[in-house]
Amino acid sequence: MWLRSANSITEKNMKKLILLAGLCSSSLLAASAQGQQELHFLHWWTSTGEVQSANLVKTELAKHQIKVVDVPVRGGGGTPAKSILQARAIAGNPPELAQIEGPAIKAWATLGFLHPLTSLAKDQQWEETLYPFVRSIQQYNGDYYAIPVTVHRLNWMWVNHNKLAEYQQTVPQTWEQLITVFNALKQKGVMPLAIGNEPWQVGQLFENIAFSIGGQAFYQKAFIELDADALSSPSTYEALSKFRQISNIIGDKLIEQRWDQASQSLLRGDSVFQISGDWVAGELMSTTGEFPDSISCYPTPSKTASFLYNIDSFAFFNSAQLSETEALKVAGILSSKQFLHDFNLKKGSIPTRKDIELTGYNQCAVKSQQDLQQAIQTGNVMPSIVDSMAVSPLIQKAALNELFRFFNDPTVTSDDVILHLQNVSKTGIAF
Ligand code: GAL
Repeated sequence: MWLRSANSITEKNMKKLILLAGLCSSSLLAASAQGQQELHFLHWWTSTGEVQSANLVKTELAKHQIKVVDVPVRGGGGTPAKSILQARAIAGNPPELAQIEGPAIKAWATLGFLHPLTSLAKDQQWEETLYPFVRSIQQYNGDYYAIPVTVHRLNWMWVNHNKLAEYQQTVPQTWEQLITVFNALKQKGVMPLAIGNEPWQVGQLFENIAFSIGGQAFYQKAFIELDADALSSPSTYEALSKFRQISNIIGDKLIEQRWDQASQSLLRGDSVFQISGDWVAGELMSTTGEFPDSISCYPTPSKTASFLYNIDSFAFFNSAQLSETEALKVAGILSSKQFLHDFNLKKGSIPTRKDIELTGYNQCAVKSQQDLQQAIQTGNVMPSIVDSMAVSPLIQKAALNELFRFFNDPTVTSDDVILHLQNVSKTGIAF
């Protein structure tokens, strides 16, 4: 039977058979021994809280007989993970699914590595349901190439208010007051700020100071456009001065630790403040099961209600193991309203869609969404440079290294930093 029917197959049909066999073999290749489809998920969510969030991806897809093979790469902010992703993609062995953020989405799409998701965006009405600042960064040439999963706020000051009261201090409303409180705590032998001595964490501190002192227009011009005049403006000098004053207070107690270890020291009360994104909330909730009573959140001191953000997105890499149809199916599951609600609730972030109620969310996330609405009204919503949302990785790395050097070496002057950043812009690196 097979032989006879095989003789009657025309050449055109044979090509279809070969293509079909190829597709079957590829999806079979991706299938695990149990006949489930396998999806390699590369991400940098490795802290206790982040692992719990990443596991939601695994459990959600398992409901659809899709087995997630975790590919976690440690390193807050994802620099090592992004290097591994690049190496794998160039070697022709990309993960089917990867956490990426910011302009990198366009970069990967430009090179043809990503499955387009525009049909899903239309089905789910992303043009109506996503915040405008969320939509644009997921697109290239009018097509969507990633699903936006989280909006993390970065201009947060986490305070152990039990320890603050114990040391008879109050919550600072300005950077001058913060420096006074830091000095008072230091006098009592307390490390005021929970922070790890690495460029990504130290850079967040400076970014918060510069954004709040200079405001959105200054920050955009100076640190996203690297405009020479803006970089040498009084706002930059003032921000670097505050940055230096803080380094002088905490420098001798500064240690190398991951951001989540710093969060644990805040929770224990070994430190009183942490200035970082609301992934800290996810970490604190994972440790105690709910947002701890001992911790409060305040926007970092600023003259106006402002919102400094990054967005975690999921992108689907073109590979023999994942067809466009399969990518759209998985993307549909991971961009459902229920999944986005549940994921952000655990992660400490807020959903990227405007039409998801924050039922069950911690009070900081609720305030984050309220402040975001206000910042959208006043035009004070800003992508984080430090967390890969605003400039090319090369400029980000150069700027972070300059700021890290300044924070750690009192012989480096503000003029040195400003001159070096002005030189970076002369290289013409841009996305
Ligand atoms: C950010 C990421 C967050 C959080 C943080 C710490 O880049 O967007 O989801 O995990 O790193 O690793």
